[in-house]
Amino acid sequence: MNQTLPHNPLTRFITDDESCWSIEQYQNQGGYQGFRKSLTLSQEQLLDTLKESNLRGRGGAGFPTGLKWSFVPRGDDAPSPRYLIVNADEMEPGTFKDRMLMEKTPHQIIEGLLIGAQTLGASIGYIFLRGDYYLAEKRLTKALQECRDANLLGENILGSGLDFDIHLHTSAGRYICGEETALINSMEGKRANPRAKPPFPQVAGLWGKPTIVNNVETFCNLPHIIHFGPQWFKDLGLNDDAGTKIFGVSGRVNHPGLWELPMGTPIRDIIEQHAGGMRDGYTLKGFLPGGGSTDFLVAEHLDIPMDYDTISKQGSRMGTGTIIILDDRYCPVAMVLNLIKFFAQESCGWCTPCRDGLPWAQVLLEKIEHGEGEPEDINQLEELCRFAAPGNTFCALAPGAVEPLQSALKYFREDFEAHINQACCPFHDKKRQGID
Ligand code: NAI
Repeated sequence: MNQTLPHNPLTRFITDDESCWSIEQYQNQGGYQGFRKSLTLSQEQLLDTLKESNLRGRGGAGFPTGLKWSFVPRGDDAPSPRYLIVNADEMEPGTFKDRMLMEKTPHQIIEGLLIGAQTLGASIGYIFLRGDYYLAEKRLTKALQECRDANLLGENILGSGLDFDIHLHTSAGRYICGEETALINSMEGKRANPRAKPPFPQVAGLWGKPTIVNNVETFCNLPHIIHFGPQWFKDLGLNDDAGTKIFGVSGRVNHPGLWELPMGTPIRDIIEQHAGGMRDGYTLKGFLPGGGSTDFLVAEHLDIPMDYDTISKQGSRMGTGTIIILDDRYCPVAMVLNLIKFFAQESCGWCTPCRDGLPWAQVLLEKIEHGEGEPEDINQLEELCRFAAPGNTFCALAPGAVEPLQSALKYFREDFEAHINQACCPFHDKKRQGID
């Protein structure tokens, strides 16, 4: 690759320098060049560039961004105002990538929104921020003010005729608010229940107007795609999936953390090279490839590439790309119970498989973990997983919630059975001995 083109576009602005999040530093390193270029391009050219880049949404679903944006009505008769919303309500268990981007490069997100405004003729942007992200809130607030002072937000931006401003909206702290239509309801002051789709928000979203909701990392990619071109972006990926991805690892590895790597990097490289491998005395037993709502994979999958399609073919999802490790000393039943408890608590209560199914799964898992389980409980858990399958629920919460459970029953079934047969948690004693 041409040496002048970056291979780590999203993190190249991040330095140890305490002011790497300031507008001065960002502009000194080439920030806002993508937006300046976008002002010289037509809406159609911008949309074509985005489609050609093959960027897929980085929030977890991987929907093609250019295609999604092409559904927004355009032209003089199109409804207005049109809204852009950054989904910064990062609450997927094990996921902390957007937090890093917001704390370290808030201007990258603003630049992505500005390009979105220029592409879709949007006049108002919102950043829907997880309420606990205090430092991100502080830095984004400062960055927004810096942009207003520099005429990068407000009226007639840089003399281009573009009027656009961004509001920071802090969430009250519910997982379901990350679902785009629940998020929109919440912003309208309503209860955060997901809406029926269609209509998709691209056509009728916030206050019934065309609205694009995309993840933080997705917006962060836009300045670079416009600045360096779609072919450069496609070439970053090691296979058909374009660009880089912020991958992460948590669990008992030597160096848990986040790294920007090419899409399609083998899972083994992420865990062994970047996260430093398993800590002494621990062996990898399984892992959730993309946050708490993805299916377990196991050691035999370590050599597959991390990209949307390959992980799906293995029966899981790349999700947010933040891997959670299960080691041989941690109880898989306890791990799944912990996740199900979270999802049961976060259900909005709208549809039965989620409202009633998840608490029921929690009860059964608690029974098993506490040594009171019966063989029939495993069958019931499997039945509950089928009950919460996609198509049976209003949104993706319950189907995602049962993914770790259904795959734990597949890969670690003997551990569930051992709890029942031994009437205790076989991992429990080890914990008490301080091995854990
Ligand atoms: P989805 O697949 O329903 O939608 C993804 C995006 O594509 C949406 O913006 C939707 O409007 C658009 N879309 C999908 N089908 C479309 C169609 N036919 N026409 C037009 N637009 C269409 O997925 P959803 O429910 O938005 O997200 C689920 C994902 O979110 C899961 O994969 C999960 O991993 C992830 N997630 C991430 C969280 C985080 O903290 N980053 C939290 C919770 C979930």
